[in-house]
Amino acid sequence: MSESVAPVTFPPAFRWGAATSAYQIEGAVREGGRTPSIWDTFSHTPGRTARGETGDIAVDHYHRFREDVALMAELGLNAYRFSVSWPRVQPTGRGPAVQRGLDFYRRLVDELLAHGIAPALTLYHWDLPQELEDAGGWPQRDVAHRFAEYAAMVGEALGDRVEQWITLNEPWCSAFLGYASGVHAPGRTDAVASLRAAHHLNLAHGLGTSALRSVMPSRNSVAVSLNSAVVRTVSREPDDLAAGRRIDDLANGVFHGPMLHGAYPRSLFAATAPLTDWSFVQDGDLAAANQPLDALGLNYYTPALVSAATAEEKAGGPRADGHGVSAFSPWPGTDDVVFHQTPGEQTEMGWTVDPTGLHELITRYTKEAPGLPLYVTENGAAYDDRPDADGRVHDPERIAYLHAHLSAVHRALADGADVRGYFLWSLMDNFEWSYGYGRRFGAVYVDYATLARTPKSSARWYGKAARDGRLPPLED
Ligand code: FCB
Repeated sequence: MSESVAPVTFPPAFRWGAATSAYQIEGAVREGGRTPSIWDTFSHTPGRTARGETGDIAVDHYHRFREDVALMAELGLNAYRFSVSWPRVQPTGRGPAVQRGLDFYRRLVDELLAHGIAPALTLYHWDLPQELEDAGGWPQRDVAHRFAEYAAMVGEALGDRVEQWITLNEPWCSAFLGYASGVHAPGRTDAVASLRAAHHLNLAHGLGTSALRSVMPSRNSVAVSLNSAVVRTVSREPDDLAAGRRIDDLANGVFHGPMLHGAYPRSLFAATAPLTDWSFVQDGDLAAANQPLDALGLNYYTPALVSAATAEEKAGGPRADGHGVSAFSPWPGTDDVVFHQTPGEQTEMGWTVDPTGLHELITRYTKEAPGLPLYVTENGAAYDDRPDADGRVHDPERIAYLHAHLSAVHRALADGADVRGYFLWSLMDNFEWSYGYGRRFGAVYVDYATLARTPKSSARWYGKAARDGRLPPLED
């Protein structure tokens, strides 16, 4: 099938990347002085992940990073977003950095640079050192200070060679899946703790940003990656709109409020008043969280569709969230909001394919953060990919997904949005948190028995887009 429309061409400096995170790919969890993170503990706790799967080996990127970088270069990518494992660099979350841990990331970065691939480094993609969780975890204020110390260590070690920095990945997941619904590590189900965690993540982001700036060259860019929700309502009735606003506060305003504007939405305080008076927010915290940023990362998969609960629904059972099903809601104080499946085609995660949501998200943050360059720091889809008889992995659904979402980015650019790059989630199949290895998001297929990597047809398609700076037809 070929397209008759004009080519979808991107700016020459556009970053065409892929994203991963440490715990999902590295393995080598006991090497080089690394100690357990909350994800090691969680995944080794029976019943927490599908089939009891863990990141112990993952896709062994720790030993195979050169092969992985070579593959990215061969495909044609010009950027790579990865995360640093905190317990690999600072095992207990306190004290001096472990040189071997920093050296691993230095070698990775040098390998990327040698292949003309720009590194984008995320400091925290959910792998809190277990010792910090034992001391109270994100609900405890001290963790924000520990994070700033860790940020400075990594900034000092790699600031000369990594220009693009991201403090936190999806603090919403850390706070609300980790401490409210408990489907992510550390698996706690305490609504108040989750709100405290959210605040300390905001503080950590701000303190971490300042710490990075104090040790790094000023040319470097500091950002955060938010999984800001695109919240839609089943109707425009006042109750449904109010339900949508409450979810928007808890998904978006709770983080972008402090980070971008130095304030929480008042309506968030009102909605959560029965749970907490937010007295854990201390004088100066909001100013500390509100650091000038150089860019904003947006992670997008699917929109949320909500309504106000009917009387029967209020008395109802478990709720679904994007990362699993739990009897505990990841949305504190919103028992009267119901989530619906958005109509349309779904990926293997059950997430509806809706590229209009990505356009909407970019448009919103163009207004919410005027003048701030935007990056799509994650977007992608899981499908049940399998090699054919010849060992090739053909994934036309993923090509269609990427084509549609990159076209949405292109429309946003045409509307005047300042989107500088796109990072496909994920470079290769990997450990998908509570789903274990049961969901394949990779552009590169991984055979978990041999750990052999095979680019799927989407990887070739995306690589061609990256090399040409424009989208190839759906099938070429
Ligand atoms: C995001 C996470 C990423 C991956 C994708 C599918 O929420 O940041 O690690 O799990 O979802």
